[in-house]
Amino acid sequence: MKKNLGVVPAVYPMPVLMVAAYDENGKPNVMNAAWGMICGMDRIALFIDEDHKTTQNLLKTKAFTVAIADKDHMDVADFFGIATGNKMEDKFERTGYHAVKSSFVNAPVVEEFPLVMECELAEVASTDSFYAIVGKIVNVAAEESVLSENGKVDPLKLNALIFDQFQHGYYVTGEQVGKAWNAGAGLMKK
Ligand SMILES: Cc1cc2nc3c(=O)[nH]c(=O)nc-3n(C[C@H](O)[C@H](O)[C@H](O)COP(=O)(O)O)c2cc1C
Repeated sequence: MKKNLGVVPAVYPMPVLMVAAYDENGKPNVMNAAWGMICGMDRIALFIDEDHKTTQNLLKTKAFTVAIADKDHMDVADFFGIATGNKMEDKFERTGYHAVKSSFVNAPVVEEFPLVMECELAEVASTDSFYAIVGKIVNVAAEESVLSENGKVDPLKLNALIFDQFQHGYYVTGEQVGKAWNAGAGLMKK
């Protein structure tokens, strides 16, 4: 028997995305975003508040990067979601992290995070219900340490943080329990 919980705006898992952009003077700022997902073969949508410093930055530069936060960098990833560059001048600098300019877009790549998407601002979508930024992914870069032998990202090596909006926890990926487009294949034969 299920218990009704009322309106709970959460799905699980949610990602822990590090959205980074330069301001007009080339100063990097990074924010934490869990409300984001792939929305096309080379597109990512982020539901981020228009007032955030990062949002204002990327609207000006028309570019941003999206890194996947991992377990080893949880404290800084969370800090990027607590502090705002609108009020804290040295938000990025105080972490001691390093940003280098992407070779593909005018946006910072945070060196400490192992996997990053480099994006051009493709679209801004605003309705009564949501405000979304859509990025065109022009490159993805990954540390060798998170790749499998086949050259693809290995989730078990990535140790990506997972956000739980029910209780505000951070989790990490467990074991692989099956293969997609395969686990249900037996039922196709009936
Ligand atoms: C776990 C977590 C997830 C978050 N997800 C989002 C999100 O999806 N969209 C959003 O607008 N803000 C989100 N935030 C809040 C922003 O990261 C926060 O307001 C931050 O201070 C904005 O930084 P900035 O003003 O320097 O860009 C999240 C914060 C945390 C801790």
